[in-house]
Amino acid sequence: MTMKKGWLLLCILALFGLTGACTKPAAKTPVDKADPLIGLSMPTHSDESWIRHSSFTIQYLKEMGYTKFDELIVKGAKILVVAAVNGEALGEVLKKAADAGIKVIAYDRLLMNTPNVDYYVTFDNYKVGVAEAEYIIDKLGLKDGKGPFNIELFGGSLDDSNSKYFYQGAFDLLKPYIDSGKLVVKSKQTSLEAVATPGWDGAKAMARMDNLLTAFYAGGSRVDAVLVPYDGLSIGVIASLKNTGYGTKALPLPIVTGQDAEVASVISIINGEQTQTVWKDFRVQAKACALMVDAVLKGKEVPVNDTTTYNNGVKNVPTFSNPVTSIDISNYMDLFNAGFYNKTDAVWKGMVK
Ligand code: GAL
Repeated sequence: MTMKKGWLLLCILALFGLTGACTKPAAKTPVDKADPLIGLSMPTHSDESWIRHSSFTIQYLKEMGYTKFDELIVKGAKILVVAAVNGEALGEVLKKAADAGIKVIAYDRLLMNTPNVDYYVTFDNYKVGVAEAEYIIDKLGLKDGKGPFNIELFGGSLDDSNSKYFYQGAFDLLKPYIDSGKLVVKSKQTSLEAVATPGWDGAKAMARMDNLLTAFYAGGSRVDAVLVPYDGLSIGVIASLKNTGYGTKALPLPIVTGQDAEVASVISIINGEQTQTVWKDFRVQAKACALMVDAVLKGKEVPVNDTTTYNNGVKNVPTFSNPVTSIDISNYMDLFNAGFYNKTDAVWKGMVK
């Protein structure tokens, strides 16, 4: 268990008064029924995307009149919203929550192999992969019979249940071209296990790309496309490619996909480096989550729109799934027009009119 996972576990245990490990004191006052404590736990404090997920969710819950939140999930929470580092690791803790009558909403990442998750709010994870693969197929002209082209594939972290949906969505579309020889994976690394990126770590993606370029592309052949499922990895892959000489007129960068429309990747798209990303409007998911929390706490019907896609190994978890949008140089302004980013923010100065 990493330190991060251990910390999360200890903090969730603290919810049930099972350990005094968390530094924040347990609430001593009786829980205000109208304004109950909401436990909100995100997998990391460092990724831009997860910081935004958390702050939007809190913002919408505040707009609904809730004021008490604790990411350390101290004793007394009436509901848990959990985006786990490792979707498999919380079984015992979730059982304790269920025994105490506490409802659990899995946020973005499904909690696996437990009956004790009540709802799931997410984006259409399979369609994320579809959007990336469609982009590659389109830009390479594979439907017009062009090719063969060289492609390398990257996957997410294996402890995140989303990774398999992202990869499957992409691979289902790419496979016919791999089978026909129009797409060539020179490394022959095509299983999710072979291409996964532990911890969604951009440095690991960069190191793997370095190895692929050295081992399979040293003799003058070039890579034409790289399937990448998250912007944090795309930036690492692009750095590796540039270090190896890509990004010139003679050796242009390949198509590189991504996900999350993170600032660095949008800048990279504007600069003609990263090619595509998948925009998940976190505000939409956070709003859906807030509505779920409110419905659960008030005993109202909980909004779900998908009861068949997300099986966590024990049951189909009732889900509210949100749509995704493919973004590239042709439509990145949608991010600003929709207010997802604000073009007057310093970071966009001189880049966006
Ligand atoms: C996934 C999430 C993606 C991306 C990735 C890396 O679970 O769905 O949008 O953020 O984690 O953080």
